[in-house]
Amino acid sequence: MSQTELERAVGEVLIDEETLAARVAELGVEISADYEGRDLLLIGVLKGAVFFMADLMRHLTVPCEVDFMAISSYGDSTDSSGIVRILKDLDINIEGRDVLVVEDIIDSGLTLSYLMRNLESREPASLEVCALMTKPARREIDVPVRYIGFEIADRFVVGYGLDLAERYRNLPYVAVLSDELMPEGL
Ligand code: IMP
Ligand code: MG
Repeated sequence: MSQTELERAVGEVLIDEETLAARVAELGVEISADYEGRDLLLIGVLKGAVFFMADLMRHLTVPCEVDFMAISSYGDSTDSSGIVRILKDLDINIEGRDVLVVEDIIDSGLTLSYLMRNLESREPASLEVCALMTKPARREIDVPVRYIGFEIADRFVVGYGLDLAERYRNLPYVAVLSDELMPEGL
């Protein structure tokens, strides 16, 4: 089969479709067991988490609702500053709710740390995090993450929701870009 234009951008597939699907299903089972008897509110962080959240939700057997937040970091495109601006706030009031924040990837942890402080001030009954990936080597601030899909090395990845300058989110797997496309310093 010939490669598509999109596939030619890929240097290495880091997590293939089957591995992603199997792990997402496992997380769904684990979360469903932990929240049995409760109503869950999933908060997806736009835009990267949308793909993961859509798949994860279909493995949940507890009643759940979804809402989304969009936040932007004031850092440059690849390094987080920890100063975060809310571009789109929640529609739902989370006071007294069991909230699970769904993130695509945790790098320095600065974005998530800000978000958690913001959400905690709204007094949810519980507040946990589910991240598809984390890069432990890059962590600058400790944020407790209850559910982790994959721990990955310090490499910039795209696909399954993750972007480089808004591109490559539609790759069905998580990949490292080819050397020619990787910007200087990544
Ligand atoms: P943090 O504040 O440094 O933890 O950055 C978290 C955000 O940076 C994620 O939600 C992503 O949007 C973005 N990010 C971090 N690492 C990567 C990566 O390897 N590929 C694509 N986006 C990334
Ligand atoms: Mg991003």
